[in-house]
Amino acid sequence: MHLHPPVLHASGIAKAYGSRRLWHGIDVTVPRGGSLAITGPSGSGKSTLVRCLGLLEHVDMGRIEILGETVTHVTSRRRMQLYRSTIGHLFQNGALEDTWTVRQNLDVAFIGSTLRGRARVPVRQDALAQVGITAPDSATAHTLSGGERQRLAIARLLIRRPPVVLADEPTAALDAATGSDILQRLSDLRDGGSAIVVATHDPAVVDWADECLDLGSPVSR
Ligand SMILES: Nc1ncnc2c1ncn2[C@@H]1O[C@H](COP(=O)(O)OP(=O)(O)O)[C@@H](O)[C@H]1O
Ligand SMILES: [Mg+2]
Repeated sequence: MHLHPPVLHASGIAKAYGSRRLWHGIDVTVPRGGSLAITGPSGSGKSTLVRCLGLLEHVDMGRIEILGETVTHVTSRRRMQLYRSTIGHLFQNGALEDTWTVRQNLDVAFIGSTLRGRARVPVRQDALAQVGITAPDSATAHTLSGGERQRLAIARLLIRRPPVVLADEPTAALDAATGSDILQRLSDLRDGGSAIVVATHDPAVVDWADECLDLGSPVSR
């Protein structure tokens, strides 16, 4: 094993649904503080690739390593630990619990942390201020706008700062200004050392990323 393995490494991974082959022979390496955009036409398997890299789904072939650990077929117990400690997801809708308050949604980020009670208050406030959310933390998530929900999901990641951040079209449903805010916050995560993978149609996100993997081009399929 390397002394400093890449945060996320996949080699020769492939995925099919029945006879429908989505992608194969895919290699991905994202170092600490690195970013990779995944592009391709609708239906090319971007979301599936993000789910596979984030261990929400299995690949059919190949190997996935996170921080040097082979995680292609981990136990569900280990997978749950990785979700808590290592992997952060960001989906188009923000992946929030709709019926929970802002505060409850943020508190999920403290699982495994030693911060308790009042010690969490400034951390929550700081994260909300960073993403520009002004709603009270007693507000229910479903009362927030799409942009606010996405910001709240990012605030949660800013508290956790997981080594791996996987985002599926995080700016797709947003106006350009909000989208560029989201990119700025993803930059904060990256600058803090997170390795970021983002499936996207958005040219601004592709420009932002260090590297781009196009699932639609014949060379990569
Ligand atoms: N769980 C599933 N079972 C069967 N087919 C699926 C499943 N998830 C996605 N697909 C199909 O796989 C293809 C790729 O989907 P997806 O990864 O969402 O692509 P993209 O994000 O690039 O639009 C689509 O044709 C979709 O219908
Ligand atoms: Mg998709």
